[in-house]
Amino acid sequence: MLLVLFIIAHMAGNLHVFEGRESMNDYAHGLRTFGAPLLPHESLLWVMRIGLIAAAAAHIASSVVLTRRAVEARPVRYVSRKPAKGESRHAAATMRWGALVVLLFVVWHLLDLTFRTVNPVKDLPDAYGAVVEGFAPERWPVTVFYLIAVLALGFHLRHGVWSAVQTIAGPNNKWRKRTQVIALAVAVIVTAGFAIVPLAVTFGLVS
Ligand code: HEM
Repeated sequence: MLLVLFIIAHMAGNLHVFEGRESMNDYAHGLRTFGAPLLPHESLLWVMRIGLIAAAAAHIASSVVLTRRAVEARPVRYVSRKPAKGESRHAAATMRWGALVVLLFVVWHLLDLTFRTVNPVKDLPDAYGAVVEGFAPERWPVTVFYLIAVLALGFHLRHGVWSAVQTIAGPNNKWRKRTQVIALAVAVIVTAGFAIVPLAVTFGLVS
């Protein structure tokens, strides 16, 4: 849930890029100076970073435990495995590959827009400049990689949100149909909201 909340907040925050350099950089600065002068510099960011690392570690660990349990419970593969009612077969089948793509993406993304190791703009307070230069038309392969990653994230979220709500609601609950709609809506909004930023820069709508 923490990871999903972060994803939604991050996607919405990125849309500041459409308001221009000042708005985007003020937003990035606001995240760093939140609570000042009472709290030390980057307090909120560090609480968020530690929470995210812990949530991601718990998420990966529980997926390993679940996979082991599933293999132990059924050592012989199914001859035919039909998806559960309301489950998206494509989203379910891409969970592991999708997770790997998202994981590799996060490593690249941190080197690109957080540490700026692979980004042309090294000036850390200029988040807007890093986005505009990072997705410049001549760097279109970067944009393609981001699009693949956010699509993989969308599939991962669709099945993840569906599965999580079903786990909480229990078997034969009334929420199956509604959950399908909610999970699809979350996945589409997140994927489109993230994708629009690199696309807008590469196609010159934001410069
Ligand atoms: C595709 C569109 C995306 C754009 C344009 C974007 C943009 C950015 C920018 C500009 C920063 C640096 C902010 C700063 O240093 O002030 C950042 C940081 C970050 N982004 Fe993204 N992001 C995108 C997608 C994602 C996705 C899909 C994820 C996760 C799956 C993600 C996870 C992160 C993380 C973990 C940080 C580091 C936060 C920190 O500790 O400072 N981003 N992003």
